[in-house]
Amino acid sequence: MTRRFVSTFKAPKGTYDLLPPESADFLAVREALARPLRRSGYGYVETPGFENVELFARGVGESTDIVTKEMYTLTTKGGDELALRPEGTASVLRAALEANLHKAGNLPVKLWYSGSYYRYERPQKGRYRHFSQVGAEAIGAEDPALDAELILLAHDAYRSLGLRDFRILLNSLGDKRCRPAYRAALQEFLRGLDLDEDTRARIEINPLRVLDDKRESVQRQLTGAPMMRDHLCEECKTFHEEVRSLLTDAGVAFEDDPRLVRGLDYYTRTTFEFVHDGLGSQSAVGGGGRYDGLSEMIGGPALPSVGWALGVDRTVLALRAEGVELELPAATEVFAVPIGEEARRRMFALVTALRREGVAADLAYGGRSMKNAMKSANRSGARYALLLGERDLAEGVAQFKDLHSGEQTSVSLDRVVAELTAKLR
Ligand code: HAM
Repeated sequence: MTRRFVSTFKAPKGTYDLLPPESADFLAVREALARPLRRSGYGYVETPGFENVELFARGVGESTDIVTKEMYTLTTKGGDELALRPEGTASVLRAALEANLHKAGNLPVKLWYSGSYYRYERPQKGRYRHFSQVGAEAIGAEDPALDAELILLAHDAYRSLGLRDFRILLNSLGDKRCRPAYRAALQEFLRGLDLDEDTRARIEINPLRVLDDKRESVQRQLTGAPMMRDHLCEECKTFHEEVRSLLTDAGVAFEDDPRLVRGLDYYTRTTFEFVHDGLGSQSAVGGGGRYDGLSEMIGGPALPSVGWALGVDRTVLALRAEGVELELPAATEVFAVPIGEEARRRMFALVTALRREGVAADLAYGGRSMKNAMKSANRSGARYALLLGERDLAEGVAQFKDLHSGEQTSVSLDRVVAELTAKLR
């Protein structure tokens, strides 16, 4: 009797494995999110999965949930304090500064990235401790057209996947000239409310986040709270109007959301979120904004910048929620079934030749029975099975079986590669 081996190890809490066939959707989503960036002047950047913890503390913000509660931190044997990256913006800016990309006289520096991020969050559907983002950053230019460009590129990426039920929320958080006065006004208003101790503490550290409190008891009291939009300085107002009108001219609908506050502290002026209505509470499929002060916060020169990150996991969930089936290229087009030792050798060579011609081909390995091998052929999703037995070998032919129609034809062995390639192209 054979005993099935069951591993006692499980993927860590809040994580999941990507396995075929679903993993193909993931790859396709990553590709689709990145495609519009590639043709818009963004170059690929890759940074380490961990950074000096101080980079995120200073960049993302000491008072944010990400930094206070959600970072995976570690001390190396050499004594370095590191953190698994909870987001990409601080790392990408650090890398651009370190390599002096901003000094090459070619601003903005436009970069895109794709990878894994880690946050110690309370796991639920759409919220994981390990997740994937595709991101883009345009570094070193204060131009509202860049903000609009990025929003359009994300919009087009989602549309190219077939998504429909998403909305764009847009806000401006002002800048270092107008936000301090607004912050003070908001604090004064909030101090007069009936709030619990934690929230009262938040008023002093990060009052804008209170606007984002989801609890009904808090939201009720926020009617009449001062809004940033009524406190924007002339420069911020003009900038924001330009972003809005560029989007409108491009025919992209958005909703002004004066309460949109993001979970990272580096934002100035433009902030936006892409929300999907089929996802429940974790509805943000992507988000971003301008971060004109971040470079200086991490020790660089003034480099006004804007960017976004789109969540790959949530985009896949959004596709499922809308019932969108991605059209993916077949993983296997031809499945080869050899019968006998000599056939196996010939088939190995034929499969190699097919692959070199660009055909996705696979072979029944492990000396399995014909019946078993045909099962694999059917399961592989291949259009054709290529059969080779002893009698075929003696006659110098192989059999093509069309797995859709069941029709079988005999083809001379030296024509197999050419004919199959022609049939499939
Ligand atoms: P973020 O809003 O924190 O922004 O994350 C962007 C997207 O990543 C979210 O909209 C969501 O789809 C996905 N995401 C975040 N956390 C999780 C999670 N725990 N599980 C699954 N998906 C998640 C940023 O990260 C900024 N760096 C964006 C940016 C770039 N701003 C300027 N440049």
